[in-house]
Amino acid sequence: MYIKIGRDYNDLSIDTAKIIAGHIRAMPNTLVCLAAGNTPLGAFRELVAMQERGEVDLSSVWYAGLDEWVGLGPDDEGSCANVMNDALYKVIQKERIRIFDGLDSDSDRQCREMENWIKSHGGISFTLLGIGMNGHIGFNEPGTPDVDGCFTVALDDVTKSVSKKYFGKELPVTTGITIGWRTLFNAQSVVLMSSGKDKAPIVKAALQESQTPNVPASLFQNHSNLSVMLDNDAASLIVPI
Ligand code: GLP
Repeated sequence: MYIKIGRDYNDLSIDTAKIIAGHIRAMPNTLVCLAAGNTPLGAFRELVAMQERGEVDLSSVWYAGLDEWVGLGPDDEGSCANVMNDALYKVIQKERIRIFDGLDSDSDRQCREMENWIKSHGGISFTLLGIGMNGHIGFNEPGTPDVDGCFTVALDDVTKSVSKKYFGKELPVTTGITIGWRTLFNAQSVVLMSSGKDKAPIVKAALQESQTPNVPASLFQNHSNLSVMLDNDAASLIVPI
């Protein structure tokens, strides 16, 4: 595992964008999976700027949306689709992207379609993950099963309470749809990104305590090509080894 600690959020975002762009240049036409959430927004801003400067062609790879709140669609503020469209997908050819639609009640079909999308592109080559306050990645909540593919999950209480930050108000979200952690783990390259003091305890648990499905991010500790990108605050409990 490689850990890079940036001075601040801006540093972290620029460094993460460079890694993503480097992967896109090195492995065009492969499938990447980039987390939504607040953490990667700075990196996405930087990626869009890089594309404007002609430094990367974001439409040279394919995209699989990591997860979605069931019950929320692309027009709903705070849905993963809404966040990703605004931050990144708006500059990418639409046919390059497959995402979950939280308004589509046939979750099983959506899961099978996403799995086929992933298979038809030879698997995921690169995964960018954020980490939830309870250690979740995507909507692989604590206790997540070790199964290949995609599934729906009952949201953990921590996730439900944190969700307000995306919606500006409390919404009765109870279920998530997600690409499963095993499928994400199978990517050649994984970047785990975290920022802020409130994440420091869970970052420490994910990286320097025992691996357990109760902290899904910890399951990535022995990935052969894992880069962990932190700012000083998120790294504040990490013990140098
Ligand atoms: C959210 C999403 C994840 C995201 C994580 C961290 O609930 N389901 O995909 O990576 O939690 O989010 P944030 O970066 O906003 O802290």
